[in-house]
Amino acid sequence: MAKITRKEFLAQDIVLLEIEAKRIASNAQVGQFVVLMPYETSERIPISLHNWDQIRGTIQIVFQIVGRTTSELSTLDVGDYIYTLLGPLGKPLELAEYGKVVCVGGGLGIPPIYNIAKGLKEKGNEVISIIGARTASLLILEELIREASDELITCTDDGSYGRKGFVTEALRDLLNTTKIDLVIAIGPVPMMEAVANLTRPMGIKTIVSLNPIMLDATGMCGVCRVKVGGQIKFACVDGPKFDGHEVDFADLRRRLAMYKEEEAKALEEWKARI
Ligand SMILES: Cc1cc2nc3c(=O)[nH]c(=O)nc-3n(C[C@H](O)[C@H](O)[C@H](O)COP(=O)(O)OP(=O)(O)OC[C@H]3O[C@@H](n4cnc5c(N)ncnc54)[C@H](O)[C@@H]3O)c2cc1C
Ligand code: FES
Repeated sequence: MAKITRKEFLAQDIVLLEIEAKRIASNAQVGQFVVLMPYETSERIPISLHNWDQIRGTIQIVFQIVGRTTSELSTLDVGDYIYTLLGPLGKPLELAEYGKVVCVGGGLGIPPIYNIAKGLKEKGNEVISIIGARTASLLILEELIREASDELITCTDDGSYGRKGFVTEALRDLLNTTKIDLVIAIGPVPMMEAVANLTRPMGIKTIVSLNPIMLDATGMCGVCRVKVGGQIKFACVDGPKFDGHEVDFADLRRRLAMYKEEEAKALEEWKARI
């Protein structure tokens, strides 16, 4: 059981939770995630760590309400307890001196990009962050990302804030004028695929964070399998970060769509009960 100490709607259907989790906070490393069950009857879902505070013993996560379990999680308030919280999970990002790094965060990829940009900057890298969302109201955590970066480029698809267009267009323009040593991209699958396609011919190392469906998150069930470099990997223990140039994105898209009917049914059944 883990107590919620802060709850804030960052945008419509996007919620930040701060949770008491002393052990996770003291062991967390950049790029890791947790798995949680809001209630005893809930499914387990993976959510990235956005931030953590070792002194206060708290972690922060940001999630979008998309289906049954995230809807259940959104019903919990400050003072309520999350039924189970497991972590930190996944391989951390290796914090090294790469040189000039671009951190690209799209939508719900922005919260985890925060601790990555911060960690890389503290390690002495020059960090340029590019964050984007469909529209201004969905562009979250701008000030935090700005603080964690040497330079920040903001984009909205509809041009309601920052540069008009996709983050990939801003990245393309940057790559055409600046020598970049590493790109890290977190966001929707098409965005990460587009980033990898952009950097591949330029030979720029690119790390993406994959979000397949997960069940046990311990490497036992195989549900989170992804194809990377022609090999089967389990994102929960081998990832979730992988070389973007090696990822089979078509396979990931296919697997993410496999349970659409069941997911819609689960949400409808939950809505009918409350
Ligand atoms: C390592 C990892 C880190 C993640 N970090 C975050 C995060 O920080 N914030 C956040 O909001 N979400 C994150 N996700 C996605 C999150 O786990 C799913 O949104 C959640 O499991 C949906 O559960 P649900 O029961 O509410 O919806 P479901 O009923 O399971 O699904 C509802 C809709 O969301 C889609 N969906 C389900 N799972 C995923 C997924 N893994 N990726 C993309 N779409 C999905 C479904 O196809 C469906 O359209 C992460 C996933 C992984 C694997
Ligand atoms: S979620 Fe079961 S092996 Fe990764």
